Amino acid sequence: MKPGLMKALVCPFHKEALELAAASCEGSEVMEGELRCPACPQPYRIAGGIPRLAGLPASGHDAPAQPAAGTDNAADTVKTFSYEWALFDRLGWDEATCGHEHTEMRFFDSTQLRKEDLPGKKILDLGCGNGRFAGVAAEESTAEVYAVDLGVQTVEVAYRNLASRPNVHVLQASVFHLPFREDFFDIGYSIGVLHHTGDTRKAFECLASRVRSGGLLAVDIYHPRNLLCEGVDRTLRAVTTRMSPDRLYRVSLRLEKVAAWLARHNLLKYVNLVMRLEAHRLSIFDWYSPKIADRHSYKEVEAWFRHCGFEITKSLKPRPRSRVEKFKRGLNPPWSLVLQGRKGQKDG
Ligand SMILES: C[S@@+](CC[C@H](N)C(=O)[O-])C[C@H]1O[C@@H](n2cnc3c(N)ncnc32)[C@H](O)[C@@H]1O
Repeated sequence: MKPGLMKALVCPFHKEALELAAASCEGSEVMEGELRCPACPQPYRIAGGIPRLAGLPASGHDAPAQPAAGTDNAADTVKTFSYEWALFDRLGWDEATCGHEHTEMRFFDSTQLRKEDLPGKKILDLGCGNGRFAGVAAEESTAEVYAVDLGVQTVEVAYRNLASRPNVHVLQASVFHLPFREDFFDIGYSIGVLHHTGDTRKAFECLASRVRSGGLLAVDIYHPRNLLCEGVDRTLRAVTTRMSPDRLYRVSLRLEKVAAWLARHNLLKYVNLVMRLEAHRLSIFDWYSPKIADRHSYKEVEAWFRHCGFEITKSLKPRPRSRVEKFKRGLNPPWSLVLQGRKGQKDG
């Protein structure tokens, strides 16, 4: 943990300023220690260089890490992602199919940010996984990037990938109890995360509250497919989400081969009308492993932006111009929605 992080931190439960007590350091990095809140019965730990602010029972906090925590589904979601990121622990997964260029393209696509939005900004990556997108944002050396994830092992993977960069902080926390001052960030983004939390809207609002007036917020959230595809997906998920991660990974390896064959014969796009299949094991595992994977329409999420005081600045909402286009869109709607908004000034 870099001591500079202290300027951003507050207790996730009491909003009080925290006091840093370092027990061991490597250079300026605090490796072990405590973060003390005057209102909390026990301190938060800093372990392996990472502040652990997720409100886990060991910290002595009664409040749950997230509304759905304690239910098997939320715990399971974090568990499957921990497995995923331990396996795909490199920022570029593998150079052949998902190298740096792919990650960079996906980052700018899913946030609709431009390189010129980043210099000098304080940026929050909510649900950072192995840190691949935080890594792209941090390439702008004047930006300060805060990478947060709920998974105990997941943040360790992100830390290994990113901690050596002077402009990145890695923390373990839940979106529902973010340990940051309100209105702190110039930019907040969350790619492929909020729909896995069990309460997408509340998670969105928690994230939005940490963005300052005039700041940008970008989200990438699962979007509903056609009815047939949704039905097939529910059926498949009922099976895949009960598999052990090892088993599902083995299945993903086989499906990857099937998808590659279909892609070679130009058939994958037809299969994708009824089910999600990509020619990469991680994408398959990522899609079929978590029990919580909610869907939301553009209309719904646009309303959340407005409710939180944002105007929409960018949107990848399809805008069919003819009946034929509309019909085609209905058959093949996007898998995810992408929206970006700017927060207005507060009244008074
Ligand atoms: C599909 S992964 C996406 C990771 C990363 N954004 C990416 O696209 O590479 C979803 C991530 O959200 C995290 N997550 C789930 N619930 C969370 C919560 N309540 N607070 C913070 N992170 C959460 C998981 O641990 C997981 O790493």
